[in-house]
Amino acid sequence: MCGIFGYVGNRNDGQKLVFSGLKSLEYRGYDSWGVGVIPEESKNTIAIKKKVGKIGNANVSDLPGGSLSFGHTRWATHGGVTDANAHPHLDCSGTIAVIHNGIFENYEEIKKGLLRKGHKFVSETDTETLTHLLEDFSKDKPFAEAVRAAFNRMDGLNAVIAVSAKENLLVAARNGSPLVIGFGKNENFLASDASALLPYTRDVYFLEDNEMAVLAPGKVTILNVKTAKEITPKRKRLDWKIEQGEKGKYKFYMLKEIFEQPQIITDIAVSGASQAEEIAKKIKDARGTYLVGCGTASYACLAGSYLFSKLAKRHVNFAIGSEFGYSLDFLNKDSLVIAISQSGETMDILESVKKAKDKGAKILSLVNVPGSSLYRLSDYKMLIGAGQERAVASTKAFTGMVAHLVLLANSLNGGVKEGQKSLMAAVKSVNQILSLKSLRKIKELTSRIVDKKHIYVIGRGLSYPASLETALKIKEISYIHAEGLAAGELKHGPLALIEKGTPCISFLPNDETYGSNLAGAMEMKARGGYIIGISHKPREVFDYYIHVSDAGESSIIPEVIVAQLLAYYLTIKKGLDPDKPRNLAKSVTVK
Ligand code: F6R
Repeated sequence: MCGIFGYVGNRNDGQKLVFSGLKSLEYRGYDSWGVGVIPEESKNTIAIKKKVGKIGNANVSDLPGGSLSFGHTRWATHGGVTDANAHPHLDCSGTIAVIHNGIFENYEEIKKGLLRKGHKFVSETDTETLTHLLEDFSKDKPFAEAVRAAFNRMDGLNAVIAVSAKENLLVAARNGSPLVIGFGKNENFLASDASALLPYTRDVYFLEDNEMAVLAPGKVTILNVKTAKEITPKRKRLDWKIEQGEKGKYKFYMLKEIFEQPQIITDIAVSGASQAEEIAKKIKDARGTYLVGCGTASYACLAGSYLFSKLAKRHVNFAIGSEFGYSLDFLNKDSLVIAISQSGETMDILESVKKAKDKGAKILSLVNVPGSSLYRLSDYKMLIGAGQERAVASTKAFTGMVAHLVLLANSLNGGVKEGQKSLMAAVKSVNQILSLKSLRKIKELTSRIVDKKHIYVIGRGLSYPASLETALKIKEISYIHAEGLAAGELKHGPLALIEKGTPCISFLPNDETYGSNLAGAMEMKARGGYIIGISHKPREVFDYYIHVSDAGESSIIPEVIVAQLLAYYLTIKKGLDPDKPRNLAKSVTVK
């Protein structure tokens, strides 16, 4: 979702640095971008360039040089995707600029008052209201104090950067959306994602909710937004690897990330066991455990509920992040919430986890981004260890989540070694899928179904979350409507949609669901469905067969990797960009 990058320092080409910072945030998903700078030659003004669309081959060479600069990638919420609605936004005098992530919930009433006072609005955004409010407030207050007062008037979950040309100051405030300050030598940085700071500094401070930072050349002051009390920041040293995100031999990040999976799962199998045993004790001690995630991560959670039942004979509840907040009144201090998230910044998860915390529940997070908001607010933390995921569609993070859950569920019954074995069987199976022969088979299938309007995917047990994830991958990047179903539900309604030639993907792993899944495939075949069987052995009912060797309880991993490849090749065949699907963002920081 929206990306923010800011710079205050001694370079006089800050705008170029900010522009390249924005490029490193592109993966978050956006529909327009903008850069602002206080020109060295004309200190009392702010120069701005903003454009609809991707950064692509654009540059900021037409902007003047300056040592205070800031930029934004926008993912539209209020107001259409237009140049005028892109950030930064200026006040009437052109000396105050604002960029913003989040939703300014009460902007309408404030805007009405500002219009009455004669302020001129040029965009349809909620953000612009803040620039004019700051213009009013800074008439009789120092700029940082004006930002604090204005931020306190804002309802909603927001991160804001406000710049004053008159005071040569950049002020940031956070409540909800992430912001990280990077400390350099005579220069300081700010970004919505710590990975964007790595080329410049590893010395950072993650701004907490209701904190603000005032960045002047050579100086950063952190304050509590409510009380104005100064805070001594506990800085962190980032020991992350710089993953330049080079695609290497791959044309797209998604394909690169798909191919990284055997190594990631191997690493988890080898080095995740002792941590899993440790964390399993927390689950044992809890009275009521809840797995919570959104989108792809929610399907990992659902898979987890099957794994815990099957392997650990333990009931673990599953909930979608955006819904959990409405159904957690029964939580108490003995409850354990396992929150799973790639980014650790998904607002729907953060909101419900905070509510769960208020009820006294303990939070265990399984996240991929160290230092993320979810990671920091958790009582117990586990890292997925999948490395930076840049394609919007999650692949390696999902299989990493499932791999940890396999180890956790096995650890609960004292059999972590069994979990390791089954993960290594999954790695073997995935390596076969990634062989040229198997890739050819998957590519060939795409030619047969690329023109179809609807695809149905069925499975039972652990293959049910695999079906949901398959459908999500297909729809989000290839824009073909796909629906994942519990195979048993077919005859309760969806079978009515199957007609001659409808592609029906059936998962038939080597487990207790095999016979019933086969029956489901036959029911669809009898209605004319084109049956794509994903299984350890071929069957007559399959019109098209993709082999996935048996990996026991970890079979969901290779099953989903076939689905990732299928979605990827469908997208390529349609000439679309699998890394940046329309309307979607990598880090979903609004509700
Ligand atoms: C789909 C996808 C999304 C995310 C969801 C949660 O490919 O990537 O459905 O899984 O937005 O994101 P995280 O895991 O960052 O909480």
